[in-house]
Amino acid sequence: MKIHDYSAESSTLSEYISRLRDINTQKDRHHFRRNIERVGRILGYEISKTLNYKKIDVTTPLGVKKCSVIDDEVVVCSILRAGLPLHNALLDVYDNAENTFISAYRRHDGSEEEFTIEVEYLASPSLEGKVLILADPMLATGSSIIAVSKALKKLGTPSHIHIMSVIGSTQAIETVKEYFSTIACDLWVATVDDALNPAKYIVPGLGDAGDLAFGEKL
Ligand code: URA
Repeated sequence: MKIHDYSAESSTLSEYISRLRDINTQKDRHHFRRNIERVGRILGYEISKTLNYKKIDVTTPLGVKKCSVIDDEVVVCSILRAGLPLHNALLDVYDNAENTFISAYRRHDGSEEEFTIEVEYLASPSLEGKVLILADPMLATGSSIIAVSKALKKLGTPSHIHIMSVIGSTQAIETVKEYFSTIACDLWVATVDDALNPAKYIVPGLGDAGDLAFGEKL
């Protein structure tokens, strides 16, 4: 598995992440979602450099030019609900992408620290032979991505899987690397943090991405 980590680079990407993390700017949900989308578009563009392309003749008002266009079938899969802004961003990048939606949440049985991942809602086309982009803004333990990937197995084998996150924890990156080691898979993280708190939230991270984008849940 190839890991693409942009944390060492200073760019507009690092500035968007600084705004996502900032407790003052993140109070504005609209801008929080827009900044997640901006990160998603940049990583989506980076992923596009790994796809297969074909040449087609495009007619302009003044002539004909050979142009490269995507020759893969792309499916964008976001994990509800926090993945929705990344999903929108990826649809901006990939006009013809198909869509998979899946829900995954932490079910706590008594303790805040122990949980299992419950996957419930799933709506998806076949994934057989297609390029699957799995979008989840926070890769804290890697358990949601692994649970989702197991649930998607019945839909066919993608030609390649790209996992996209805004912040990945060092621990989750190791877990994901091991789980996907025999699968054609790349991991794209805008940045990496080392720690998790006892509730398995990324520290310093940014908090609860779903709540910050869409409001607190009961
Ligand atoms: N989900 C989040 O939204 N944030 C974390 O830090 C971990 C999981």
